[in-house]
Amino acid sequence: MDNIDALRTEWLERVAAAGDAAALEQVRVAALGRKGRLTELLKGLGAMGLEERRAAGPALNGLKDAVQAAILARQGVLERQAQGVRLAAERVDVTLPVEYRAEGRIHPISQVTDEIVAIFGDMGFTVAEGPEIEDDFHNFSALNIPPEHPARQEHDTFYFAPHADGHRMLLRTHTSPVQIRTMMRHAPPHRIIAPGRTYRSDSDITHTPMFHQVEGLVIDKVTHMGHLKGCLIEFLHAFFELPDVPVRFRPSYFPFTEPSAEVDIGCSRKGGELKIGAGDGWLEILGCGMVHPNVLLNCGVDPGIYQGFAFGMGVERVAMLKYGIPDLRTFYESDLRWLRHYGFAALDQPSTQGGLAR
Ligand code: PHE
Repeated sequence: MDNIDALRTEWLERVAAAGDAAALEQVRVAALGRKGRLTELLKGLGAMGLEERRAAGPALNGLKDAVQAAILARQGVLERQAQGVRLAAERVDVTLPVEYRAEGRIHPISQVTDEIVAIFGDMGFTVAEGPEIEDDFHNFSALNIPPEHPARQEHDTFYFAPHADGHRMLLRTHTSPVQIRTMMRHAPPHRIIAPGRTYRSDSDITHTPMFHQVEGLVIDKVTHMGHLKGCLIEFLHAFFELPDVPVRFRPSYFPFTEPSAEVDIGCSRKGGELKIGAGDGWLEILGCGMVHPNVLLNCGVDPGIYQGFAFGMGVERVAMLKYGIPDLRTFYESDLRWLRHYGFAALDQPSTQGGLAR
C-alpha cells in the first residue's frame, strides 16, 4: 500500500509538471500507454494469488482512475492557458481591406425554369415531377405512340440493358410522361407544369444529349383550343417581357395531341443578329395541342366528360432567346467565365421573377 501511495504521489506530480499538451501526452503514455508503468502493474495482477489480488486490484485500479482524471483536468488547464496566450497575442486590424470572395451565380437554366414556373404559378398551375429513368409505357405507349410508330425513331432514345423478361428502361425523351403519371395518380381536373431533364442521343450545335423541357397539362370539363392559345400567348408575353411580340400557331403533329400545333414567335434577323419582336422571321418555341382522347383513355379519364390541352417547351431554347446566349453547347461546359457572364446573381432578379406583371 505504501508502494501505491508513493506511485500516486509520483504520477500526480508528473502530471502537474507537464507544461504543455505534448509533455502531458508523454506522461500519459509512460503511465497508461500499452507498455506504460501502471498498465504493466495492472497486467501483473493476473499472476498474483487470490488474497494478494484482492488487496492490490482495487488499489491499482483506483490509482489508474486517479491518474486518468488528473490527466484530463490538466489537459483542460493547458488548453485554457494556450487559448489565453493566443488571445493576448492576436489583434484585429480594422484597417485591412476586405478580401474578395467569389460569389456563386445562378445558372441560366435554373433562372429560366424559375421564371417559367413563376408565370404559370400565377395562372394557378402547380409543379409536378416524374422520374428521368422511365419505362416504355409512360414515355411512349400511354402517349399514343405504339411500338412500331415512326415517332419513336425521331426520339433517338437512350435505352438501358434489357431486364430478364426483355423489357428495357430508358431515359425519358421528353417531359410528356409526367402527363401520364399525373392523370393516373390523381383525379381530374389538372393544371400542372413539369420542368425537368430530358435525354436524346443527339449532339450538334443545336442539340445536347441532355436538355430541359417544361411540360404543361390542363384537364377540365370545358377546356378548348381558345384556352390553350390564350394561356400560351399570355405566358409568352410575360416571359419575353414584350406585350406585342407576335405569336403564331402553326398546325403540326404529335401522336398525343389532336389537333396539334407548334408555336412560333416573331423575330427579326439582321446582320446575323436575332432579335425577338416584330420582324419578318418566325422562330419555333414549343409544341402543343388538345390532349388526344386515346391518352385520356389510357389514363382512365373519360374523354366524354374531360378534355384539355398540353404543351412542351425547350428551356435552353427560350433561355437562349431571352438572354441572347448564342451557343447551346456552352450551357454544359461548366466554364466559370461563361457562368459569371450569363449567370444571375441571387439577389438581382429580372422582373418576371414575380410572375405575371399585374
Ligand atoms: N413532347 C413533345 C416534344 O418533346 C412536346 C409536346 C408536349 C407537344 C405536349 C405537344 C404536347 O417534342
